Amino acid sequence: MRLNTDFEHYIESHTTPEDEVLQQIHRHTYLTTYNPRMISGPSQGKFLEFICNMLSPRRILEIGTFTGYSTVCMARGAMPHGHIDTIEVNDELEGHLRRTFTEAGLSDCITLHIGDAKALLPTLKPGYDFVYIDGDKRDYPAYFDLSLPLLRCGGYMLADNVLWGGKVYAPGAPDDAHTQAVMEFNRMVAEHPEVENTLIPSRDGLMLVRKIL
Ligand SMILES: C[S@@+](CC[C@H](N)C(=O)[O-])C[C@H]1O[C@@H](n2cnc3c(N)ncnc32)[C@H](O)[C@@H]1O
Repeated sequence: MRLNTDFEHYIESHTTPEDEVLQQIHRHTYLTTYNPRMISGPSQGKFLEFICNMLSPRRILEIGTFTGYSTVCMARGAMPHGHIDTIEVNDELEGHLRRTFTEAGLSDCITLHIGDAKALLPTLKPGYDFVYIDGDKRDYPAYFDLSLPLLRCGGYMLADNVLWGGKVYAPGAPDDAHTQAVMEFNRMVAEHPEVENTLIPSRDGLMLVRKIL
């Protein structure tokens, strides 16, 4: 979810600008997709690149590829040793994604899985160093349950949109499935005995989780 605010504009105008590859993905996303605001964009993209550069993960798992913006950012940060398995349920995006990864010179370090993450996660080999969750918010609790066993002890997980536009802490009971699921995810993380976590109030909220057991 992109936040179209003065706040967001200020942040992006004081962040290293996108290069031509990312600009191209950005443009294409706004020209061809129904909900382009789902793209992570320059500030979060650079943050993902930095996180991967700092952690040097060899194996990354991403849930929710969309048009590949975050995938490219993480792959660049994790080069030259990192590899990303990225899962996208919308098969209409497949052709664009494969072309994008090839044009970015990253096709060797990205494996695109087309299908529902809930069905595909149990088929993946455990031992990921970093998991990035950015799929359907209603499935966040399931993504957490299914991806935590795939994360190695000491590995990190990052989940986007965990403040869900402020709805998770607004007074009164949440009346929609998305908010309820994000709240449940945040509760599961905070109470899980095998993880430590911090909720970073960046853009729409990022949950950073470390597996300790
Ligand atoms: C917020 S977008 C991802 C944005 C992308 N990570 C980025 O930063 O540019 C969410 C994506 O998750 C995909 N998605 C939703 N449910 C999914 C599922 N169960 N398995 C895999 N992908 C899913 C959607 O089709 C959509 O493309």
